Amino acid sequence: MINLISKHKCCKKVQPESPLPFTKLFLPRILTKGSPISIQIVFLLLTKSSFPEAFNPINNAFTTQPMEFSTYSFSTKKVLLRVDFNVPIDKVTFEILDDKRIKAALPTINHIINHNGIPILLSHFGRPKNGPENQFSLIHIVSRLEELIQKPIIFCKNLEEAERRCKDVCPGEVILLENVRFYPEETQGDLAFAERLASLGDCYVNDAFGSAHRAHASTTQIARHFPTDKMMGFLMAEELACANKILQNPQKPFTAIVGGAKVSDKVLIIENLLNIIIGGGMAFTFVYAQGGSVGSSLLEKDKVDVALSILHKAKEKGVNIHLPQDSIAASSFLEHAETSIVPTHSIPYNWMGLDIGPESIARFCDVVSKSKTILWNGPMGVFEWERFELGTKSLAFALAEATEKGSFTLVGGGDSASAIAKFKLSHRVSHVSTGGGALLELFEGKELPGIKALT
Ligand code: 3PG
Ligand code: MG
Repeated sequence: MINLISKHKCCKKVQPESPLPFTKLFLPRILTKGSPISIQIVFLLLTKSSFPEAFNPINNAFTTQPMEFSTYSFSTKKVLLRVDFNVPIDKVTFEILDDKRIKAALPTINHIINHNGIPILLSHFGRPKNGPENQFSLIHIVSRLEELIQKPIIFCKNLEEAERRCKDVCPGEVILLENVRFYPEETQGDLAFAERLASLGDCYVNDAFGSAHRAHASTTQIARHFPTDKMMGFLMAEELACANKILQNPQKPFTAIVGGAKVSDKVLIIENLLNIIIGGGMAFTFVYAQGGSVGSSLLEKDKVDVALSILHKAKEKGVNIHLPQDSIAASSFLEHAETSIVPTHSIPYNWMGLDIGPESIARFCDVVSKSKTILWNGPMGVFEWERFELGTKSLAFALAEATEKGSFTLVGGGDSASAIAKFKLSHRVSHVSTGGGALLELFEGKELPGIKALT
Protein backbone atom coordinates (compact mmCIF):
# COMPACT_ATOMS: atom_id res chain seq x y z
CA MET A 1 0.00 0.00 0.00
CA ILE A 2 2.82 2.40 0.90
CA ASN A 3 4.26 1.96 -2.58
CA LEU A 4 0.95 2.58 -4.20
CA ILE A 5 0.42 5.72 -2.20
CA SER A 6 3.86 7.10 -2.89
CA LYS A 7 3.11 6.75 -6.59
CA HIS A 8 0.89 9.74 -6.11
CA LYS A 9 3.96 11.89 -6.35
CA CYS A 10 3.61 11.23 -10.07
CA CYS A 11 0.47 13.34 -10.00
CA LYS A 12 2.59 16.22 -11.14
CA LYS A 13 1.06 19.16 -12.81
CA VAL A 14 0.91 18.95 -16.57
CA GLN A 15 -0.95 21.07 -19.04
CA PRO A 16 -4.04 19.73 -20.76
CA GLU A 17 -3.23 18.35 -24.20
CA SER A 18 -6.01 20.08 -26.03
CA PRO A 19 -8.53 22.80 -25.33
CA LEU A 20 -11.37 21.78 -23.08
CA PRO A 21 -14.04 19.93 -25.03
CA PHE A 22 -15.76 19.39 -21.79
CA THR A 23 -18.48 21.06 -19.86
CA LYS A 24 -20.04 20.07 -16.63
CA LEU A 25 -23.22 19.25 -18.51
CA PHE A 26 -21.37 17.14 -20.99
CA LEU A 27 -19.81 14.76 -18.50
CA PRO A 28 -22.87 12.85 -17.42
CA ARG A 29 -23.77 12.43 -21.08
CA ILE A 30 -20.49 10.81 -22.07
CA LEU A 31 -20.68 8.75 -18.96
CA THR A 32 -23.82 7.13 -20.21
CA LYS A 33 -22.68 6.72 -23.80
CA GLY A 34 -20.67 3.55 -23.35
CA SER A 35 -17.42 5.50 -22.95
CA PRO A 36 -14.60 3.86 -21.02
CA ILE A 37 -15.65 5.85 -18.02
CA SER A 38 -17.34 3.90 -15.32
CA ILE A 39 -20.96 4.17 -14.56
CA GLN A 40 -22.08 2.39 -11.54
CA ILE A 41 -25.50 2.50 -10.24
CA VAL A 42 -26.10 1.81 -6.64
CA PHE A 43 -27.42 3.44 -3.64
CA LEU A 44 -28.11 2.15 -0.29
CA LEU A 45 -31.28 2.26 1.62
CA LEU A 46 -30.89 1.30 5.18
CA THR A 47 -34.48 0.77 5.98
CA LYS A 48 -36.02 -2.33 7.36
CA SER A 49 -35.00 -5.11 5.03
CA SER A 50 -37.55 -6.87 2.89
CA PHE A 51 -35.14 -9.71 2.24
CA PRO A 52 -36.62 -12.55 4.19
CA GLU A 53 -39.75 -12.67 2.01
CA ALA A 54 -38.23 -11.39 -1.20
CA PHE A 55 -35.29 -13.70 -1.06
CA ASN A 56 -37.25 -16.84 -0.47
CA PRO A 57 -37.99 -17.75 -4.08
CA ILE A 58 -34.31 -17.61 -4.85
CA ASN A 59 -33.31 -19.46 -1.77
CA ASN A 60 -35.95 -22.05 -2.48
CA ALA A 61 -34.54 -22.52 -5.92
CA PHE A 62 -31.77 -24.56 -4.39
CA THR A 63 -34.17 -27.05 -2.93
CA THR A 64 -37.30 -26.89 -5.03
CA GLN A 65 -36.02 -26.90 -8.58
CA PRO A 66 -37.39 -30.05 -10.20
CA MET A 67 -34.01 -31.44 -11.22
CA GLU A 68 -30.49 -31.28 -9.92
CA PHE A 69 -27.99 -30.54 -12.68
CA SER A 70 -25.12 -32.62 -11.35
CA THR A 71 -27.16 -35.83 -11.10
CA TYR A 72 -29.46 -35.41 -14.11
CA SER A 73 -29.03 -37.99 -16.86
CA PHE A 74 -27.98 -36.10 -20.00
CA SER A 75 -27.07 -39.11 -22.07
CA THR A 76 -28.08 -38.62 -25.74
CA LYS A 77 -30.32 -35.69 -24.74
CA LYS A 78 -30.46 -32.43 -26.62
CA VAL A 79 -29.87 -29.86 -23.89
CA LEU A 80 -31.12 -26.35 -24.41
CA LEU A 81 -28.53 -24.40 -22.48
CA ARG A 82 -29.14 -20.69 -21.99
CA VAL A 83 -25.81 -18.99 -21.42
CA ASP A 84 -24.83 -15.34 -21.19
CA PHE A 85 -22.21 -14.83 -23.90
CA ASN A 86 -22.83 -11.10 -23.86
CA VAL A 87 -19.13 -10.24 -23.75
CA PRO A 88 -17.53 -6.92 -24.63
CA ILE A 89 -15.98 -6.84 -28.13
CA ASP A 90 -14.00 -4.31 -30.10
CA LYS A 91 -16.48 -2.54 -32.36
CA VAL A 92 -14.03 -2.45 -35.26
CA THR A 93 -12.05 -5.69 -35.11
CA PHE A 94 -14.74 -7.71 -33.27
CA GLU A 95 -12.01 -9.04 -31.02
CA ILE A 96 -13.32 -10.26 -27.65
CA LEU A 97 -12.10 -7.87 -24.94
CA ASP A 98 -12.98 -10.02 -21.95
CA ASP A 99 -13.99 -13.68 -22.24
CA LYS A 100 -14.80 -14.15 -18.57
CA ARG A 101 -18.47 -14.92 -19.23
CA ILE A 102 -17.63 -17.58 -21.81
CA LYS A 103 -15.09 -19.21 -19.51
CA ALA A 104 -17.55 -19.12 -16.64
CA ALA A 105 -20.02 -21.26 -18.63
CA LEU A 106 -17.45 -23.95 -19.46
CA PRO A 107 -17.97 -26.23 -16.44
CA THR A 108 -21.65 -26.55 -17.35
CA ILE A 109 -21.02 -27.03 -21.08
CA ASN A 110 -18.28 -29.59 -20.42
CA HIS A 111 -20.38 -31.47 -17.90
CA ILE A 112 -23.11 -31.95 -20.51
CA ILE A 113 -20.58 -33.01 -23.16
CA ASN A 114 -18.83 -35.40 -20.77
CA HIS A 115 -22.16 -36.99 -19.89
CA ASN A 116 -22.94 -37.70 -23.51
CA GLY A 117 -25.45 -34.85 -23.88
CA ILE A 118 -25.67 -32.43 -26.79
CA PRO A 119 -25.49 -28.76 -25.77
CA ILE A 120 -27.67 -26.46 -27.87
CA LEU A 121 -26.41 -23.07 -26.76
CA LEU A 122 -28.75 -20.09 -26.66
CA SER A 123 -27.56 -16.57 -25.86
CA HIS A 124 -28.19 -12.94 -26.57
CA PHE A 125 -25.42 -10.59 -27.60
CA GLY A 126 -25.80 -6.84 -27.18
CA ARG A 127 -29.07 -5.07 -27.81
CA PRO A 128 -29.94 -5.34 -31.53
CA LYS A 129 -33.05 -3.34 -32.32
CA ASN A 130 -33.86 -4.27 -35.93
CA GLY A 131 -33.13 -7.93 -36.53
CA PRO A 132 -29.80 -9.36 -37.62
CA GLU A 133 -26.81 -7.03 -37.60
CA ASN A 134 -23.19 -8.13 -37.96
CA GLN A 135 -21.94 -6.23 -34.91
CA PHE A 136 -24.36 -8.22 -32.74
CA SER A 137 -23.66 -11.62 -34.31
CA LEU A 138 -22.51 -14.44 -32.09
CA ILE A 139 -20.32 -15.56 -34.99
CA HIS A 140 -17.66 -13.31 -33.39
CA ILE A 141 -17.33 -15.59 -30.40
CA VAL A 142 -17.35 -18.93 -32.23
CA SER A 143 -13.60 -19.39 -32.66
CA ARG A 144 -12.89 -18.46 -29.03
CA LEU A 145 -15.54 -20.90 -27.85
CA GLU A 146 -14.12 -23.64 -30.09
CA GLU A 147 -10.68 -23.03 -28.60
CA LEU A 148 -12.04 -23.23 -25.08
CA ILE A 149 -14.10 -26.38 -25.48
CA GLN A 150 -11.69 -27.88 -28.02
CA LYS A 151 -14.46 -28.90 -30.34
CA PRO A 152 -15.97 -27.52 -33.52
CA ILE A 153 -19.21 -25.61 -33.08
CA ILE A 154 -22.17 -26.00 -35.39
CA PHE A 155 -23.28 -22.38 -35.74
CA CYS A 156 -26.88 -21.92 -36.87
CA LYS A 157 -27.61 -18.55 -38.45
CA ASN A 158 -31.32 -18.72 -37.76
CA LEU A 159 -34.03 -20.81 -36.20
CA GLU A 160 -34.86 -22.68 -39.43
CA GLU A 161 -31.28 -23.84 -39.70
CA ALA A 162 -31.26 -24.83 -36.03
CA GLU A 163 -34.47 -26.80 -36.53
CA ARG A 164 -32.88 -28.71 -39.41
CA ARG A 165 -29.57 -29.36 -37.66
CA CYS A 166 -31.11 -30.37 -34.35
CA LYS A 167 -33.03 -33.21 -36.00
CA ASP A 168 -29.99 -35.40 -36.56
CA VAL A 169 -27.44 -33.98 -34.15
CA CYS A 170 -25.34 -36.55 -32.23
CA PRO A 171 -23.51 -36.70 -28.90
CA GLY A 172 -20.08 -35.14 -29.35
CA GLU A 173 -21.54 -32.23 -31.33
CA VAL A 174 -22.28 -28.75 -30.02
CA ILE A 175 -24.78 -26.33 -31.53
CA LEU A 176 -24.80 -22.57 -31.07
CA LEU A 177 -27.81 -20.61 -32.24
CA GLU A 178 -27.33 -17.05 -33.51
CA ASN A 179 -28.24 -14.17 -31.16
CA VAL A 180 -31.76 -14.85 -29.89
CA ARG A 181 -32.38 -11.09 -29.80
CA PHE A 182 -32.33 -11.02 -33.61
CA TYR A 183 -35.94 -12.06 -33.04
CA PRO A 184 -37.93 -9.27 -31.36
CA GLU A 185 -40.05 -12.02 -29.80
CA GLU A 186 -37.14 -12.83 -27.49
CA THR A 187 -37.26 -9.64 -25.43
CA GLN A 188 -41.05 -9.56 -25.70
CA GLY A 189 -41.10 -12.89 -23.90
CA ASP A 190 -43.26 -14.22 -26.74
CA LEU A 191 -44.84 -17.56 -25.89
CA ALA A 192 -44.93 -18.97 -29.43
CA PHE A 193 -41.27 -18.11 -29.91
CA ALA A 194 -40.40 -19.75 -26.60
CA GLU A 195 -42.28 -22.84 -27.71
CA ARG A 196 -40.32 -22.93 -30.97
CA LEU A 197 -37.06 -22.72 -29.07
CA ALA A 198 -38.22 -25.37 -26.63
CA SER A 199 -39.01 -27.79 -29.45
CA LEU A 200 -35.28 -27.92 -30.29
CA GLY A 201 -34.36 -29.84 -27.15
CA ASP A 202 -35.27 -32.46 -24.57
CA CYS A 203 -34.44 -30.47 -21.44
CA TYR A 204 -33.57 -26.93 -20.37
CA VAL A 205 -30.63 -25.63 -18.34
CA ASN A 206 -30.28 -21.98 -17.43
CA ASP A 207 -26.74 -20.88 -16.65
CA ALA A 208 -27.17 -17.25 -17.72
CA PHE A 209 -26.94 -15.54 -14.35
CA GLY A 210 -26.14 -12.22 -16.05
CA SER A 211 -29.56 -12.36 -17.75
CA ALA A 212 -31.57 -13.86 -14.90
CA HIS A 213 -33.29 -10.50 -14.29
CA ARG A 214 -34.79 -10.57 -17.79
CA ALA A 215 -38.20 -12.16 -18.35
CA HIS A 216 -37.35 -13.03 -21.94
CA ALA A 217 -38.41 -16.00 -24.06
CA SER A 218 -35.13 -17.93 -23.72
CA THR A 219 -34.52 -17.05 -20.06
CA THR A 220 -38.00 -17.47 -18.65
CA GLN A 221 -40.92 -18.48 -20.90
CA ILE A 222 -39.10 -21.45 -22.38
CA ALA A 223 -38.92 -23.15 -18.98
CA ARG A 224 -42.67 -23.80 -18.86
CA HIS A 225 -42.21 -26.37 -21.65
CA PHE A 226 -40.06 -28.50 -19.37
CA PRO A 227 -42.15 -28.92 -16.23
CA THR A 228 -39.69 -31.40 -14.76
CA ASP A 229 -36.64 -31.33 -16.99
CA LYS A 230 -35.41 -27.83 -16.16
CA MET A 231 -32.56 -26.82 -13.90
CA MET A 232 -29.83 -24.30 -13.25
CA GLY A 233 -26.25 -24.93 -14.34
CA PHE A 234 -23.11 -24.76 -12.21
CA LEU A 235 -22.49 -21.05 -12.79
CA MET A 236 -25.99 -19.99 -11.83
CA ALA A 237 -25.82 -22.09 -8.68
CA GLU A 238 -22.39 -20.72 -7.77
CA GLU A 239 -23.50 -17.11 -8.28
CA LEU A 240 -26.52 -17.63 -6.07
CA ALA A 241 -24.49 -19.38 -3.41
CA CYS A 242 -22.01 -16.48 -3.31
CA ALA A 243 -24.74 -13.86 -3.17
CA ASN A 244 -26.37 -15.89 -0.45
CA LYS A 245 -23.25 -15.63 1.71
CA ILE A 246 -23.69 -11.88 1.69
CA LEU A 247 -27.46 -11.84 1.96
CA GLN A 248 -27.78 -14.25 4.84
CA ASN A 249 -25.68 -14.03 7.96
CA PRO A 250 -22.54 -12.43 6.58
CA GLN A 251 -19.53 -12.76 8.85
CA LYS A 252 -18.96 -9.49 10.64
CA PRO A 253 -17.63 -6.85 10.38
CA PHE A 254 -19.42 -6.45 7.06
CA THR A 255 -18.39 -3.63 4.72
CA ALA A 256 -19.91 -2.52 1.43
CA ILE A 257 -17.87 -0.44 -0.98
CA VAL A 258 -19.90 1.46 -3.51
CA GLY A 259 -18.69 3.79 -6.19
CA GLY A 260 -19.07 4.72 -9.81
CA ALA A 261 -20.67 7.72 -11.32
CA LYS A 262 -24.18 7.83 -10.01
CA VAL A 263 -26.41 7.65 -7.06
CA SER A 264 -29.44 6.24 -8.78
CA ASP A 265 -32.79 4.73 -8.34
CA LYS A 266 -31.38 1.28 -7.67
CA VAL A 267 -31.91 0.38 -4.10
CA LEU A 268 -29.51 -1.97 -2.46
CA ILE A 269 -30.93 -3.22 0.77
CA ILE A 270 -28.34 -4.56 3.11
CA GLU A 271 -28.82 -5.42 6.70
CA ASN A 272 -25.98 -6.17 9.08
CA LEU A 273 -23.63 -3.62 7.58
CA LEU A 274 -21.07 -1.96 9.79
CA ASN A 275 -19.34 0.17 7.15
CA ILE A 276 -20.22 1.72 3.85
CA ILE A 277 -17.35 3.14 1.87
CA ILE A 278 -18.53 5.56 -0.77
CA GLY A 279 -16.20 6.58 -3.58
CA GLY A 280 -16.35 7.46 -7.26
CA GLY A 281 -18.56 10.15 -8.72
CA MET A 282 -21.44 9.42 -6.37
CA ALA A 283 -19.38 10.54 -3.33
CA PHE A 284 -19.59 14.17 -4.45
CA THR A 285 -23.34 14.27 -4.03
CA PHE A 286 -22.88 13.16 -0.42
CA VAL A 287 -20.11 15.70 0.21
CA TYR A 288 -22.19 18.48 -1.39
CA ALA A 289 -25.20 17.45 0.68
CA GLN A 290 -23.12 18.06 3.79
CA GLY A 291 -22.23 21.57 2.65
CA GLY A 292 -19.00 20.86 0.74
CA SER A 293 -17.88 22.64 -2.44
CA VAL A 294 -17.19 20.03 -5.09
CA GLY A 295 -16.19 22.28 -8.01
CA SER A 296 -17.37 20.78 -11.29
CA SER A 297 -17.19 17.19 -10.04
CA LEU A 298 -20.07 14.88 -10.88
CA LEU A 299 -23.01 16.02 -8.83
CA GLU A 300 -26.63 14.96 -8.84
CA LYS A 301 -28.43 17.82 -7.17
CA ASP A 302 -31.72 15.96 -7.40
CA LYS A 303 -30.24 13.20 -5.24
CA VAL A 304 -29.13 15.45 -2.39
CA ASP A 305 -32.20 14.54 -0.33
CA VAL A 306 -31.57 10.88 -0.94
CA ALA A 307 -27.96 11.30 0.19
CA LEU A 308 -29.02 13.11 3.33
CA SER A 309 -31.58 10.50 4.18
CA ILE A 310 -29.01 7.73 3.72
CA LEU A 311 -26.58 9.57 6.00
CA HIS A 312 -29.34 10.03 8.55
CA LYS A 313 -30.49 6.41 8.48
CA ALA A 314 -26.93 5.15 8.65
CA LYS A 315 -26.38 7.21 11.79
CA GLU A 316 -29.57 5.90 13.33
CA LYS A 317 -28.53 2.32 12.66
CA GLY A 318 -24.93 2.72 13.76
CA VAL A 319 -23.53 2.20 10.26
CA ASN A 320 -20.29 4.08 9.59
CA ILE A 321 -20.30 5.94 6.32
CA HIS A 322 -16.83 6.60 4.97
CA LEU A 323 -16.56 9.37 2.42
CA PRO A 324 -13.28 10.36 0.78
CA GLN A 325 -11.76 13.25 2.72
CA ASP A 326 -9.32 13.99 -0.11
CA SER A 327 -9.51 13.66 -3.87
CA ILE A 328 -7.31 13.82 -6.92
CA ALA A 329 -8.82 16.78 -8.69
CA ALA A 330 -8.22 17.56 -12.34
CA SER A 331 -8.48 20.86 -14.17
CA SER A 332 -10.49 19.21 -16.93
CA PHE A 333 -11.91 15.86 -17.93
CA LEU A 334 -8.79 14.80 -19.79
CA GLU A 335 -6.42 11.95 -19.17
CA HIS A 336 -3.43 14.31 -18.95
CA ALA A 337 -5.14 17.22 -17.28
CA GLU A 338 -3.40 19.20 -14.57
CA THR A 339 -4.00 17.50 -11.19
CA SER A 340 -3.83 18.33 -7.54
CA ILE A 341 -4.62 16.57 -4.26
CA VAL A 342 -7.36 18.56 -2.54
CA PRO A 343 -9.83 18.13 0.34
CA THR A 344 -13.00 16.69 -1.18
CA HIS A 345 -15.16 19.29 0.57
CA SER A 346 -13.29 22.18 -1.04
CA ILE A 347 -12.54 21.33 -4.63
CA PRO A 348 -11.62 24.52 -6.50
CA TYR A 349 -14.08 26.13 -8.86
CA ASN A 350 -14.11 24.36 -12.26
CA TRP A 351 -11.95 21.49 -11.03
CA MET A 352 -13.29 18.00 -10.68
CA GLY A 353 -12.45 15.00 -8.52
CA LEU A 354 -11.48 12.02 -10.69
CA ASP A 355 -10.09 9.72 -8.01
CA ILE A 356 -9.92 9.45 -4.25
CA GLY A 357 -6.80 10.88 -2.60
CA PRO A 358 -4.03 9.20 -0.56
CA GLU A 359 -5.56 9.81 2.88
CA SER A 360 -8.86 8.32 1.74
CA ILE A 361 -7.01 5.36 0.26
CA ALA A 362 -5.24 4.71 3.54
CA ARG A 363 -8.45 4.97 5.56
CA PHE A 364 -10.60 2.91 3.20
CA CYS A 365 -7.96 0.19 2.98
CA ASP A 366 -7.73 0.11 6.76
CA VAL A 367 -11.50 -0.43 7.03
CA VAL A 368 -11.31 -3.19 4.42
CA SER A 369 -8.44 -4.91 6.23
CA LYS A 370 -10.57 -5.12 9.39
CA SER A 371 -13.65 -6.54 7.65
CA LYS A 372 -14.67 -10.17 7.37
CA THR A 373 -17.22 -9.77 4.57
CA ILE A 374 -16.76 -7.22 1.79
CA LEU A 375 -19.05 -6.45 -1.10
CA TRP A 376 -17.59 -4.21 -3.78
CA ASN A 377 -19.69 -2.57 -6.46
CA GLY A 378 -18.34 0.41 -8.37
CA PRO A 379 -14.90 1.96 -8.87
CA MET A 380 -13.40 4.78 -6.82
CA GLY A 381 -12.39 6.91 -9.79
CA VAL A 382 -11.72 6.95 -13.51
CA PHE A 383 -9.57 3.81 -13.26
CA GLU A 384 -9.48 3.42 -17.04
CA TRP A 385 -6.95 6.27 -17.03
CA GLU A 386 -3.72 5.33 -15.29
CA ARG A 387 -3.37 8.67 -13.53
CA PHE A 388 -6.74 8.19 -11.84
CA GLU A 389 -6.61 4.47 -11.13
CA LEU A 390 -4.82 4.45 -7.79
CA GLY A 391 -7.90 4.58 -5.54
CA THR A 392 -9.59 1.70 -7.31
CA LYS A 393 -6.32 -0.23 -7.59
CA SER A 394 -5.48 0.19 -3.91
CA LEU A 395 -8.92 -1.00 -2.84
CA ALA A 396 -8.61 -3.96 -5.22
CA PHE A 397 -5.31 -4.93 -3.57
CA ALA A 398 -6.81 -4.41 -0.12
CA LEU A 399 -9.62 -6.80 -1.09
CA ALA A 400 -7.11 -9.39 -2.29
CA GLU A 401 -5.16 -9.12 0.96
CA ALA A 402 -8.34 -9.41 3.04
CA THR A 403 -9.30 -12.51 1.06
CA GLU A 404 -5.92 -14.06 1.77
CA LYS A 405 -6.54 -13.48 5.47
CA GLY A 406 -9.84 -15.37 5.25
CA SER A 407 -12.45 -12.70 4.53
CA PHE A 408 -15.22 -13.32 2.02
CA THR A 409 -15.02 -10.82 -0.84
CA LEU A 410 -17.54 -10.45 -3.63
CA VAL A 411 -16.99 -8.13 -6.56
CA GLY A 412 -20.02 -7.39 -8.70
CA GLY A 413 -21.07 -5.19 -11.57
CA GLY A 414 -19.37 -4.80 -14.92
CA ASP A 415 -17.09 -1.91 -13.99
CA SER A 416 -15.73 -3.41 -10.79
CA ALA A 417 -15.18 -6.71 -12.58
CA SER A 418 -13.26 -4.89 -15.34
CA ALA A 419 -11.23 -3.02 -12.72
CA ILE A 420 -10.27 -6.15 -10.82
CA ALA A 421 -9.36 -7.83 -14.11
CA LYS A 422 -7.28 -4.83 -15.17
CA PHE A 423 -5.20 -5.17 -12.00
CA LYS A 424 -4.96 -8.96 -12.51
CA LEU A 425 -6.56 -9.68 -9.15
CA SER A 426 -9.68 -11.57 -10.21
CA HIS A 427 -8.28 -14.85 -8.87
CA ARG A 428 -7.37 -13.26 -5.54
CA VAL A 429 -10.89 -12.35 -4.39
CA SER A 430 -13.54 -14.85 -3.31
CA HIS A 431 -15.85 -14.30 -6.26
CA VAL A 432 -16.20 -11.97 -9.22
CA SER A 433 -19.78 -12.09 -10.36
CA THR A 434 -20.71 -12.40 -14.04
CA GLY A 435 -23.82 -10.42 -13.23
CA GLY A 436 -24.26 -6.67 -13.39
CA GLY A 437 -27.93 -5.75 -13.30
CA ALA A 438 -28.88 -9.26 -12.17
CA LEU A 439 -26.65 -9.08 -9.10
CA LEU A 440 -27.92 -5.64 -8.16
CA GLU A 441 -31.52 -6.82 -8.45
CA LEU A 442 -30.72 -9.73 -6.16
CA PHE A 443 -29.37 -7.29 -3.57
CA GLU A 444 -32.45 -5.16 -4.04
CA GLY A 445 -34.41 -8.13 -2.82
CA LYS A 446 -36.13 -8.67 -6.15
CA GLU A 447 -37.19 -11.99 -7.51
CA LEU A 448 -35.25 -12.87 -10.67
CA PRO A 449 -37.61 -14.24 -13.36
CA GLY A 450 -34.94 -16.51 -14.84
CA ILE A 451 -34.55 -18.26 -11.51
CA LYS A 452 -38.20 -18.25 -10.55
CA ALA A 453 -38.97 -20.04 -13.84
CA LEU A 454 -36.82 -22.99 -12.77
CA THR A 455 -38.76 -23.66 -9.61
C1 3PG B 1 -25.71 -7.84 -19.15
O1 3PG B 1 -24.66 -7.71 -19.76
O2 3PG B 1 -26.09 -7.04 -18.28
C2 3PG B 1 -26.55 -9.05 -19.43
O3 3PG B 1 -25.98 -9.81 -20.43
C3 3PG B 1 -27.95 -8.64 -19.78
O4 3PG B 1 -27.93 -7.81 -20.90
P1 3PG B 1 -29.04 -6.69 -21.05
O5 3PG B 1 -28.78 -5.67 -19.98
O6 3PG B 1 -28.85 -6.13 -22.45
O7 3PG B 1 -30.38 -7.36 -20.86
MG1 MG C 1 -27.22 -5.03 -18.44
